[in-house]
Amino acid sequence: MFSTFEPYRIKAVEPIPLTTRDNRQKYLEEVAFNPNRLKANQVTIDFLTDSGSNALSCKQWSAMMQADESYAGADSFYTFESTVKAITGFPFIVPVHQGRAAEKILFKVLLSEAEVAYSNGFFDTTREHILQNKIKAINIDTETESRDFKGNIDCRKLEEMLSKEDQKVGVVVMTITNGERGGLPVSISNIKEASAICRKHNVFFYADACRFAENTWFVKTREKGFMDKTPSQIALEMFNEFDGCIISAKKDGLCNIGGIFATRQREVYEKFSEECILAEGHITYGGLAGRDLEAIAVGLTEALDEHYLQHRIEMVQEFGRMLEFNGATILEPGGHAIFIDAEKALSHIPRNQHPAWALTCALYVEGGIRAYEYGNLKFGYKDENGKEAFLHRELVRLAIPRRVYTMSHLKYVAEVFGKIMQNASNVRGLTIIRFPSFLGLFEIEMKEV
Ligand code: F0G
Repeated sequence: MFSTFEPYRIKAVEPIPLTTRDNRQKYLEEVAFNPNRLKANQVTIDFLTDSGSNALSCKQWSAMMQADESYAGADSFYTFESTVKAITGFPFIVPVHQGRAAEKILFKVLLSEAEVAYSNGFFDTTREHILQNKIKAINIDTETESRDFKGNIDCRKLEEMLSKEDQKVGVVVMTITNGERGGLPVSISNIKEASAICRKHNVFFYADACRFAENTWFVKTREKGFMDKTPSQIALEMFNEFDGCIISAKKDGLCNIGGIFATRQREVYEKFSEECILAEGHITYGGLAGRDLEAIAVGLTEALDEHYLQHRIEMVQEFGRMLEFNGATILEPGGHAIFIDAEKALSHIPRNQHPAWALTCALYVEGGIRAYEYGNLKFGYKDENGKEAFLHRELVRLAIPRRVYTMSHLKYVAEVFGKIMQNASNVRGLTIIRFPSFLGLFEIEMKEV
């Protein structure tokens, strides 16, 4: 067996910012210990998100040069539309400027008479858009029996919820891969079972499919009966189970911006289109430039390439192993990120001093690495009555942009983590100075205890 290597070579290089430890300490103080507020040029390795941070290929750049920027009916729209149709099988396709624009419009048109929506794991903007329609957004537990597909929804629970007589269920959203469960995959058999339950109860079944290509690789390599199928065949089989989907092209679209709405439901499409014209722009550009549509069409195709996917998934798994070797306790690696258990890493920091946030600060000061707190600050550290309660695991997400960093960057990050562990007791907890209202992780201000 040879080592995994990047199935591409580098055609354009972008130097990364190199800073000193003293600089970083000062920068972090200047932004009130909130790494999310740093300038990108103060960050050496940026693992804040895998969203919109992808590297484009030479094919994408050349397609962009040939884009048609006409207001309506541009060639670039038809290229985009035919690619999305071929990949998803859905007949009605609308571009939007990013995933959350599709959420905002879809839930407005879909949920007018509903009371509740269910998911295997709502992303935070998805949940918020549902709540804004005065509808409850409830995550159903993931299935416990499945070893290989821990993103699966518990179909027994789903059946139980949809059987309740006293509530009107608007939609079931399957998030693929399941981002809130560490980017863990969902099996095709689970999707088929959930789909059958939704049909039986006459409930809309939509996919939040921004990491659908990564999911196909897990299906191919782990699910019985899929070994000989291509990622494209698996994707088509998966989308076939849904009424439609929303996709942020900033993930598996291998792009820096863009979103997609696709459906087989004409009536939903027509309502969506009207709202799109108001909020995003004409339905053949949806808030994007023609060149973005071209980049998405090529990006979606490249994301389903077997060599690319094999490397992508193996790279993330290997990164997990390197971190474990350096002392990290991690969640099972998914497709786009590694989640470190910060309470295990910094056991001297109590929960009310935010160990996960403290670890993101330490990663920055020690190595210029930016990561994302996935703990009680992101998910809420208060109970229903507004009392302080720390109900969530203190995790730190290291999300890996696609085609941007090499294995040696990942090795460096693992080494930085190892160095933090050598003097873990020096890392200090933090308290909140200012916490803006909802989804406020980008503005929060902290100070060291
Ligand atoms: N759904 C999921 C599962 C996501 O992870 C995201 C974004 C969205 C929807 C919204 O898409 O950003 O294009 O509007 N996730 C990013 C992240 C921001 O860092 O996980 P968007």
